[in-house]
Amino acid sequence: MHAVGIVAAAGSGLRLGAELPKALVPLGGRPLVCWAVESLRAGGVDEVVVAVPAPQRAAFTAVLPGDVHVVLGGDTRTASVRAALAAARGHAGDQGRTAVLVHDAARPLTPPELVARVLAALAAGARAVVPVLPVVDTTVRVDDDGVVAADVPRAALRRVQTPQGFDRATLVEAYGRAHGAAAEFTDDASVVRAAGIPVHTVAGDERAAKITVAHDLRMAELQVLGEEDR
Ligand code: CTP
Ligand code: MG
Repeated sequence: MHAVGIVAAAGSGLRLGAELPKALVPLGGRPLVCWAVESLRAGGVDEVVVAVPAPQRAAFTAVLPGDVHVVLGGDTRTASVRAALAAARGHAGDQGRTAVLVHDAARPLTPPELVARVLAALAAGARAVVPVLPVVDTTVRVDDDGVVAADVPRAALRRVQTPQGFDRATLVEAYGRAHGAAAEFTDDASVVRAAGIPVHTVAGDERAAKITVAHDLRMAELQVLGEEDR
């Protein structure tokens, strides 16, 4: 199965608060986006499309490998993935099924084994698959005043990571149906599920954690240092 990777890297990283767009922020001396591209490739992805913020296009092409396809992202993650998906369409000309893996640039330390698990589930026939982790904290619902209104049984709850894998035709069709102001999703599996397609799960990995705030970047730096020491 031919596999295309899409890396959503067009966000600004407001919560991280760096001077650069988050995907260009260095980790162990290398921009986050480069780590994300590399883990997709190491896990078995054949070609990669990266959605970048328009003002920094040149900065992204300067740091990314030459065979990575760079496209301009949009105002929302959904718009960025949509743009990359349109660019990915013409690429794989082979007759068989094509897999698309959609990944966050903000998950730099995703182990290649996780990417491989997602690809394996697609090869086994799933049309959509997401890596998930259990919820370990007690989880509650609060009212408008922040007062606890209910316990939420956590046994059936999962935290969803990326890369999320799809049969390409399925993802293209789901994005085709998802339009209008209400069509903003925080991930791609939601787009597919909105189209009525079952989304399967594989085991996620804590190392694929998303870098959102400054603390997350410090944790990732420690992880990189720990691996260098080994
Ligand atoms: N993303 C994107 N296009 C957007 C917004 C987000 O491609 N218009 C990407 C980000 O670059 C990131 C991923 O989606 O790799 C996950 O989003 P998030 O962690 O929210 O990143 P940012 O939107 O950049 O950060 P923030 O919300 O703190 O501004
Ligand atoms: Mg965001």
